[in-house]
Amino acid sequence: MSKITFLPDNKICEAPDNLTILEVAKRNKIPHVAACGGEGKCTTCRLLILEGIENCSNETEIEKALIDRAHTTTGFRLACQTSINGDITARRLVLDSDDIQHMSFDRQGESKKIAIIFSDIRGFTPFSEKLTPYDVVFILNRYFKRMVGVVEKNNGHVDNYIGDGMVAIFGMNDEKNPAEYAVKAALEMIDEMDDMKPYLKTMYGKDFDIGVGVHWGEAVVGDIGAGQSKKYTAIGDSMNFASRVESANKQFKSRVLISDEVYQEVKDLLVVKDFMRTMVKGIDGRVTLHEVEQIHLRNELKQLKDNQKFEDGYNWNKCGSVDSFESNEQQVFKFNKETILIVKADDKFYGMNEKCPHMNLSLKGGGVDIREGTINCAWHNTTFCYKTGDVKTWLALSSAEKFMTKIFLKSNKQAEGVLDTDPTNIEVYPTQVIDQYVWVGIKEN
Ligand code: FES
Repeated sequence: MSKITFLPDNKICEAPDNLTILEVAKRNKIPHVAACGGEGKCTTCRLLILEGIENCSNETEIEKALIDRAHTTTGFRLACQTSINGDITARRLVLDSDDIQHMSFDRQGESKKIAIIFSDIRGFTPFSEKLTPYDVVFILNRYFKRMVGVVEKNNGHVDNYIGDGMVAIFGMNDEKNPAEYAVKAALEMIDEMDDMKPYLKTMYGKDFDIGVGVHWGEAVVGDIGAGQSKKYTAIGDSMNFASRVESANKQFKSRVLISDEVYQEVKDLLVVKDFMRTMVKGIDGRVTLHEVEQIHLRNELKQLKDNQKFEDGYNWNKCGSVDSFESNEQQVFKFNKETILIVKADDKFYGMNEKCPHMNLSLKGGGVDIREGTINCAWHNTTFCYKTGDVKTWLALSSAEKFMTKIFLKSNKQAEGVLDTDPTNIEVYPTQVIDQYVWVGIKEN
């Protein structure tokens, strides 16, 4: 007759073919937990089969569904669903009521390949040392809101905040192509940072920058912790390595570095600026890191053909549908490095640089005067013709507003930069409507 060696009890029991492991345990007074009474409704009778997995019966449909839900890896079987036809050694995993609480339907540890982003702010201490605590929290939250938006848009989730640093994970829930989305997110984080800098400069007279590191590797993922702070997270060397990749940005004066593992996974989609070999703490020998400039997602490559065309020296890009401008008359679109504002005015569409040439602040939301054919930058009351890009009025601030600007920036030197710049036209782009979609043309270099 087949035998089961139960651990940690270290008890060997005879197992007739027609009995489940749970029934064998009960018969031999082994205190094996089965919270649902052995009906295949929980996973508390779970065992880890250490030897003889080939002697276990095939998984029942009930067992397959439960094991999938619990995200376990191979070697786990439910005692209430499994019988044996040869000897096995099995470790009981749920030993008491505390274990039941921990195990119910938690996602148990499994090894998984994930992509990890580490980001850190450069120069936040000098930036914030003269600010009030209110301002520090306000700016950090404003910054994190943008970064979290980028991560989530790219199917990742923010795992942790470490001071002004952030950890994001891609692929925890088997999302597609985590490595390429992580690189995309890292590059978009840099764009967001660049977008935020003029705002910081205007409001606080100084700004900061970020460094981002991306790694792709195995990690142990599962529900970790207890009580309210328990969360589905990842641990392991890959997480530490991602943090080292991020740190290497300081050494190379770069902003986005990816590990060679990420590079090998997505190299066909990348535009790489440089690579470097360096020592990394905890790793023997040098590792290769790559500085990336651009990535084209696999599905974007397919779409690119339909959404882009070259004509008359212009690279034409498909923007939103005509209908979408009914409710949203100003929309921003990004094409490579260009950020373009499309404004609907008088039933026509006008394209212009989204950044006001005065201080590079966002023009979106500026008041449009259809009679004058102008758009106003509300930051310092500057007006441009939205058809030609010509300046109509430049920094039309009252003397009280000028005074307040100087006071606000606290330093006259910085305020002079704001108030004494020469009028500069805004760049405009041609548009056309094709099949009810707005297209914008960017001059080819
Ligand atoms: S940023 Fe537009 S007027 Fe100053």
